[in-house]
Amino acid sequence: MTNTRSLKLIENEQTLCELPVLAGSTGPNVLDVQSLYKHTGMFTYDPGFTSTASCSSAITYIDGEAGILLYRGYPIEQLAEHSTFLEVCYLLLHGELPDKAELSTFEHNITMHTMVHDQVNLFFRGFRRDAHPMAIMVGVVGALSAFYHDAMDIHSKEDRLMCAIRLIAKVPTIVAMCHKYSTGLPFMYPKNKLNYVENFMRMMLATPCDEFEPNPVLVKALDRILILHADHEQNASTSTVRLAGSSGANPFACITAGIACLWGAAHGGANEAVLNMLLEIDDVSRIGLYINKAKDKNDPFRLMGFGHRVYKNYDPRAKIMRETCHEVLSELGLHDDKLFKLAMELERIALEDDYFISKKLYPNVDFYSGIVLHALGIPSKMFTAIFAMGRTIGWISHWDEMIADPEQKIGRPRQLYTGQTQRELPLK
Ligand code: SDX
Repeated sequence: MTNTRSLKLIENEQTLCELPVLAGSTGPNVLDVQSLYKHTGMFTYDPGFTSTASCSSAITYIDGEAGILLYRGYPIEQLAEHSTFLEVCYLLLHGELPDKAELSTFEHNITMHTMVHDQVNLFFRGFRRDAHPMAIMVGVVGALSAFYHDAMDIHSKEDRLMCAIRLIAKVPTIVAMCHKYSTGLPFMYPKNKLNYVENFMRMMLATPCDEFEPNPVLVKALDRILILHADHEQNASTSTVRLAGSSGANPFACITAGIACLWGAAHGGANEAVLNMLLEIDDVSRIGLYINKAKDKNDPFRLMGFGHRVYKNYDPRAKIMRETCHEVLSELGLHDDKLFKLAMELERIALEDDYFISKKLYPNVDFYSGIVLHALGIPSKMFTAIFAMGRTIGWISHWDEMIADPEQKIGRPRQLYTGQTQRELPLK
């Protein structure tokens, strides 16, 4: 971070203050406004943080205009094509790709922590069988904060790494347990001889009555889906984790705050909403009706899976997800999958419509992911939980970076107050 120049704030020819302009390694510079209130008695005002950098970070870079996404400098296209999710987890957490030995050790450590404490099973019993999986995830992942007091010194790098290992390893187990609980089928325990995604697919889709034979094409597809969801800069759920963590809160509780935020339909809940939207549209002939609803200011309906706060170009993850969709459907012999064809026609029509072109609304990561997950046999209620499984590494990497940041302090935004000024309580 370098101080490039400064900008003066002048009112009636009087300099109110001089604010430094800071540059990172690439991307927009920032105006450092930390001294603004001290010098002017004013706050900045930016609901939704459309022009606000909440922190400095070296983990992920997004260029929304160019449609670029880099994890520790590596393009998402190259990682999705040539890497594995656990290798990407190591990269996001440590900043560099692992060598062969480092990756093997990392994979072994994750494998050795995939089981949850047997008491965790009891938490599920309190939920109705039809509880939304994200509600259960908030409850059960949050409960993990009551289990690991042996490694909870957040100022110890070793303890922070142990938390990361435990979360990367246990979230898939809990996600699979959420699904099994909803079906009434027994929980499946992890099998150490399987790799990370094979293990998850077995816990999620197999039963104790049969042997699980992983399909390598489907395993690779889900591994790639997790890579695409791993991190995305200061999105709403990651910012939630950072804000929760800034108070020194338990890391398992902070990740749970991220899970809660991700559940929203405007964020990670969009993949489930996209599938429900496609099922509701049902036929190509009805696409126009829904495009018009999305454009109607008086209609709250939005085209789910379209638009993004940062990407004003095609989300690079959506392109890869569409290719993955095609691969999975071909492998499963679903060439004429109605939903996929409907989605592609919806995308074509929307991208030719001036409303979407003028507002730079393109498909985002959620637009195709639901179709792939549906084809993999994962129920739509589980889609956001799968997103959380991929994003856990991003959340814990940002939490770790924040705790280690010497600039770190508790997050405490201010406000523009528009309520009642002081008034006297009427005497009774
Ligand atoms: C994710 O931040 C991240 O990085 C998130 C994420 C990640 O990896 O963490 O990328 C994951 O959350 C992807 C987004 C998934 N959400 C959806 O697909 C839901 C549908 N999309 C929208 O709700 C919306 O596009 C957002 C929430 C994604 C972005 O909203 P913004 O940036 O606040 O934009 P906006 O609401 O101000 O919209 C700008 C204009 C508005 O019209 P005007 O008021 O200017 O006339 O575009 C319109 C909006 O009405 N608009 C849409 C639309 N999205 C925006 N109109 C119809 N359909 C849509 N999908």
